Parts: sequence; structure tokens; C-alpha cells
Amino acid sequence: MKQPLPLASVADPIAPEALTPFRNRNVYIENYGCQMNVSDSEVIASILAGAGYGSETDMRSADIILLNTCAIREKAEERVFGRLGEISSLKRKRPDLVLGVCGCMAQRIADQIAERAPYVDLVMGPDSYRNLPEAIENARGAPYIDTRLDPLEDYADIAPVRAEGVKAWLTIQRGCDKFCAFCVVPFVRGRERSVQLENVVEEARRLADSGVKEITLLGQTVNSYNDGRHDFADLLEAASEVNGIERIRFTSPHPSDATDAMIRVMGSNPKVCSHIHLPLQSGSDEVLTRMRRDYRVKEYMEVVEKLRANVPGAAITTDIIVGFPGETPAQFEETYRLMERVRYDGAFMFKYSERGGTVAQKRYADDIAEAEKIERLKRIIALQESVSAEIYASKIGTAAAVLAEGVSKRSGDDLFGKTDDFKTCVFPKGGVEIGSIVQVEIVNSTPHTLIGRSASRGG
Ligand code: SAH
Ligand code: SF4
Ligand code: F3S
Repeated sequence: MKQPLPLASVADPIAPEALTPFRNRNVYIENYGCQMNVSDSEVIASILAGAGYGSETDMRSADIILLNTCAIREKAEERVFGRLGEISSLKRKRPDLVLGVCGCMAQRIADQIAERAPYVDLVMGPDSYRNLPEAIENARGAPYIDTRLDPLEDYADIAPVRAEGVKAWLTIQRGCDKFCAFCVVPFVRGRERSVQLENVVEEARRLADSGVKEITLLGQTVNSYNDGRHDFADLLEAASEVNGIERIRFTSPHPSDATDAMIRVMGSNPKVCSHIHLPLQSGSDEVLTRMRRDYRVKEYMEVVEKLRANVPGAAITTDIIVGFPGETPAQFEETYRLMERVRYDGAFMFKYSERGGTVAQKRYADDIAEAEKIERLKRIIALQESVSAEIYASKIGTAAAVLAEGVSKRSGDDLFGKTDDFKTCVFPKGGVEIGSIVQVEIVNSTPHTLIGRSASRGG
């Protein structure tokens, strides 16, 4: 199914005569990795729409297939190689098909992609998307590789082409300057840079005009946002002044940049949601030091306590890595105990995956046996499941404001949405309109979902 995309407001529109060869060609984009990639794919769609391409939701009917990839763990990259293998048969049948690899993995291992999947036409890093139309045009034979990092690129002048809905991602910062020892992001996304506050607010207005009610501000260390004149707390306040935007979320904040001003705005501004994703990584100071995380358990816990004291009903979720080089059983126990102490509403938990070029890879042997990593991971997952189940069950009998996002996949009679504190809630449709915030009475729960009974307008 071909859907014409609206013309994007690209800075430098392409002359109409130059578009002619592409008028009937369409692009399918497949996403891997984090929300940043989802947001980048919306930028890519805009750039390509500006160059005359249509969008395609069925890969088999597309003229151009782009995989927007992730490099965070080895498994993420192996999945993409597997997918490329599958797509290669399509490519054999239709040699005119253009196949591109974009994103963080493209940036990290362009040469390996060209070697292992020589049928790929383009390999484009996260700062090269403006060159995509030209690259597609010239892509024939050997892979065209463009992985220049541009410390100034923020795509701020490009209006992303988003799927319709009541929620939208809004990138406010690109890159990362933290260089945690395990992490590939600073290498594949370059230096930290913030979009000017005025541009963010303008984009939020545009979204509100198109019916969006909730925005999620995106950045790798989103709360270190600084455009030279404004910090993150300023931006939250400014975004909250946009009429029509009813909820503001952000991800991922870094514990070291969780300022009192940010916590104050979270507690006092009704549009800023009462949920924070605060990656801990490890509950051991020795491991945090080797990880080059620039806080210790004491500082992290101070942030948690301030949040709990100042943001009523604050939900806290986190990221944890087990099996970082040299992590002793006792150090792992510290993580386990800290998780018990904080009682996170939810957590993403990972086994350490060594990434070439990082400090950890250069300095430490990946010395925790795979079986031991799996064992540790299983233990914290079991702990988190039981804590989440208790927290979700404790909501039974309370009322929650839920933004109705869509019809539940399980039952056409139910809607789903998120509570202010980021819990998925399923509730009967009644007369509720999608996009409205409704009061739902919670009558049941699972470790990951709240079940609501009746809904009424308001919130
Ligand atoms: N910028 C975010 C994290 C982005 S990556 C932050 O600092 O909070 C998302 C998560 O992936 C990280 O929080 C970390 O838990 C995990 N991760 C990153 N590199 C990893 C690696 N090499 N092995 C396993 N997990 C990793
Ligand atoms: Fe990676 Fe650390 Fe930057 Fe997060 S803060 S993206 S974990 S380097
Ligand atoms: Fe993956 Fe890149 Fe995001 S490495 S986690 S897609 S920033």
C-alpha cells in the first residue's frame, strides 16, 4: 500500500525536476534499538518525502528498504545480520531494490557490514541522513558508505513525519559526552548537542495542532540538556506552556544531571508526568567506578529520596547491567539489595555485552562466565517481577488518570493507555474518545498491566 507523505519542511527543498525519477518509488523503514532511532526514522521519512519518495508499510512492495539499526549489544547487531540475510533473497529477485543500513550499527561497523553483506547498497550513520536521497540515487554496485559524524547536526529544521497518534517523540538532544565504560553510544552518535529551546517549543506546537496530547522529550542524557541559554528545567516549563499538550515525559535522564530544579518542576507542573527512568546500572560503588558512571550509590539514593519527597506518587524505573567485568558475587548482591531497597516500578535488565572500542573492552577481560551472567540476570528479573506485581496490585481500588491511546489488541471492547506514572492500563471503551484523559478505577492487575473498570471524563 503506497501512502504519499506530506512534503517535509527540509531546509533546502529539492527542485521539482530533480524529483521526477523518484516520484513512484517508495521506502520501507524497519526500526531497531531505542526511541532515538524511532525518532530518527521520522526524520529520514521527512527527508525522503522532501525528495519525492512515498512511504511503504509492506517490505515486499518497497523500492527502498532501510534498516535503522542499534549497536548497544552484540545481539542487536546479530539480529540485523540475520535480517539482512533474509532480505538478500528479495534483492536477488529484484536487483533494482535499494537496501540500506542506517543508524548506530551502520556507524560502528560499516566496513564489516560491507564485507558480511556485500549486497547492501548504502551504509549511513546517524549524522548522514541529509545525504540519503543522493546516496540512494548513486547506490549501485559496491556499498556507498557515509559515516561522517557532524558535531553540529541536530536536524532541527526538519519536520519529522510521524505516524498519526496522540503521542509523539521529540528529540531535544543528540549524542552523549559521558563515555560510560561499557557503552558504544558516544562513539556512534558523537558529541552531545541540544536543539534550541525555541525549536523544541515550535515542534511541540506543531504536534499539538495535529492532535498530539503527549510528548516524550528524547536524549541520551536528556536532563543534561543545555542550548546555551536554557537548561532542562527551563525546557520542561516552556514545553508545558504549549496549549493542547497535556502530558510531558522524557527519557533517559542521567542520575548526575537530576537537578533540584528538574525535580521541582516534576513535582509542581501538572503536565510533567510523575515517572522517571533513572538508570542505575549497578548497586556497587566499585562496579560503578569501573563502569565510569559519575555517581555513587549514595548520590543515586539522594536523587531517589528527593524524587519521592517532592514528586507525589513518583514511579521510578531503571536499567541494570549484570556481569560487568570483574563483578564479584558480593558486588552483584549489592545490586540485588539496592533493587530491593528502591523497589522500582519496572526495570530493563541486561547481561553485559562487550563492545569494541569502549574503555571496558580495552581495559578489562569479559571474565564473567555466560552461565553466571544468565544466573544473575534471572535472579534480578525474578525479584523485579515480584516487586512490580506488588506495586501494580497496590493500585487496585485507586483511581488513575489514563490517556486513551487506542483499542486494546486483546479485545475490541477495551481501550488501552498509560497512567500518569507510566503504567499500561486496559479499560472498557464506554463512550471514551481516543486522545482524552479519563479517570479509571483500577480493579485488577498483572505485573505489567492495570485493569480498569469504569471510565469517566476528566483528569
Ligand atoms: N543513555 C542512557 C542509556 C542508553 S543505552 C543512560 O545512560 O541512561 C540503554 C541501556 O543499555 C543502558 O542504560 C544500559 O543498561 C544498557 N547497555 C548499554 N551498553 C551495554 C552493554 N555493553 N552491555 C549490556 N547492556 C548495555
Ligand atoms: Fe551510554 Fe553512558 Fe551515554 Fe548512557 S550516559 S548513552 S550509558 S555513555
Ligand atoms: Fe541502540 Fe543507538 Fe539507541 S546504539 S540504544 S539505537 S542510540
